[in-house]
Amino acid sequence: MSDKSSQFAKLVAEIKSHHCSLRGGCQQAVPGDGNINSPVVFIGEAPGKMEDELGHPFVGSAGKLLAEALSTIGWQREDIYITNVVKCRPPENRDPLPEEVEEHKSFLTRELALIQPKLIVLLGRHALHWFLPAEKISEIRGTAKRRGNQIFFPIYHPAAALYDPRLRATLMSDFKKIPILLGKIDQLSETKSPTLSVQSSIF
Ligand code: URA
Repeated sequence: MSDKSSQFAKLVAEIKSHHCSLRGGCQQAVPGDGNINSPVVFIGEAPGKMEDELGHPFVGSAGKLLAEALSTIGWQREDIYITNVVKCRPPENRDPLPEEVEEHKSFLTRELALIQPKLIVLLGRHALHWFLPAEKISEIRGTAKRRGNQIFFPIYHPAAALYDPRLRATLMSDFKKIPILLGKIDQLSETKSPTLSVQSSIF
């Protein structure tokens, strides 16, 4: 096993065996999964009912829409890494509390440090709030932002598009920007261009 794989396996084991204030009310902790060498990481909010039962992120209806959106850009779920801000299901799928996010913070930080993605796709307002707390999802979605050496691409959460089908077309068109954005990031890193300054928009 490579060093990266073994560090990831250790992190997954830690996530699965951790104790937090949500643990008593859920079936299991749900670590991120997928390709740890992916240049893109997708971050959602927290496991829902299906995820809590099956132990994997985005395996319910939001996950199906995510897979469909991925297929429109020729990707499969296995190609990317997907995880959540909070690894345990909040009761009745309520929003995670700030202190619950805080309890889980080190897991996501370690996932990102290990994977070092070129692009972080933020699914919905909870993931957005973690990284870019001053922004609103309805205003910033579909726009790439750089903070330090990380590039974020906030888009609607697939569950929001299931709840309000008018958001579906926007979600799908934002997905189409992901490979274009990755290509731009590759170009910029080849030329070492300083064009992407902190908080600048790419699109
Ligand atoms: N919604 C999320 O934010 N994460 C999941 O894993 C499933 C649904």
